[in-house]
Amino acid sequence: MSEQPEIVISIKDVSIYQHKTLVLEQLHFDIHPGEFVYLIGKTGAGKSSLLKTLYGELPLKQGQISIAGIELLNLKRKEIPTLRRQLGIVFQDFQLLTDRSVHENLRFVLKATGWKNKDEIQKRIEEVLGLVGLPTKDFKMPHELSGGEQQRVVIARALLNKPAIILADEPTGNLDPDTSQDIMKLLISISKEQHTAILMATHDYMIIERFPARLLKCEGGKVIDLGGILF
Ligand SMILES: Nc1ncnc2c1ncn2[C@@H]1O[C@H](COP(=O)(O)OP(=O)(O)OP(=O)(O)O)[C@@H](O)[C@H]1O
Ligand SMILES: [Mg+2]
Repeated sequence: MSEQPEIVISIKDVSIYQHKTLVLEQLHFDIHPGEFVYLIGKTGAGKSSLLKTLYGELPLKQGQISIAGIELLNLKRKEIPTLRRQLGIVFQDFQLLTDRSVHENLRFVLKATGWKNKDEIQKRIEEVLGLVGLPTKDFKMPHELSGGEQQRVVIARALLNKPAIILADEPTGNLDPDTSQDIMKLLISISKEQHTAILMATHDYMIIERFPARLLKCEGGKVIDLGGILF
C-alpha cells in the first residue's frame, strides 16, 4: 500500500480556455483533504475560470483533473450533477432562492440530490445549520437575514452532502470586514473539523494576512504555488 496521502484535487498539465482564448496553462498542483488554499491574482488572471472548470461549468479541454475521484476530461453533461454532489460551491452573491425559507432552501437541495427520508432530511438540515451557527433560523426568509447570515446559509447548503471540497469564489466579497472575518473563521473550522478541503478565490489581502494559509497565485497565464509565503 502506498503511504501517499489521499488527494482531493489533482491537476496535471492543464490548460484552461475561455472559448478559444487561453487563460491559464501548464497547471500542476494537488490539494489534500482538509487543506485550506487561497487562489489569488489580479482581476482577469483566471481565478474564476479555474474554479468554473473544477465545478464543470467550463469544460476541460486539455490536461488531467481529478476532483473528488471524478475525472473531468471528457466528462459528459449528464455526469455534471454527480460531480456537483461531491462539491460544495459558495459564491460572492448568495444565490439563495428568495421566495423560500432557509429550511426550504436546504430541503430543496437535499431532495434534488436524492434524499427521500423525511426524518433524515430534517436531521441533516438541523446538523448543517448547527455547524454554521444558525440553529434557530430555519423558518426565516433570506431577506430576514443579514448578509453574513445569508452567507452562512449558503455554506450550510454547501455542506449538505458532506463534500470532500468546497470551492469558494470571493465568499467575503460582499461582506463588511468583521463579518468577513466571522465567515473566514467558519470556513477554517470546517476545513479543520469536517476535514473538508477549501479552495477560495479572494482579492482580500487583509483576510490572507489575518488567516494565513497556502497560496496559489494566478499570474502571467500560470498558477504559481507560493506555499504559505505572502508577498
Ligand atoms: N464568459 C466569458 N467569456 C469569455 N471570456 C471570459 C469569460 N469569463 C472570463 N473571461 C476572460 O477570461 C479571463 C479570466 O477571467 P476570470 O473571470 O477567470 O478572472 P478572475 O481572476 O476571476 O478575475 P476577478 O478577480 O475579476 O474575478 C479574462 O481575460 C476574462 O476576460
Ligand atoms: Mg473572478
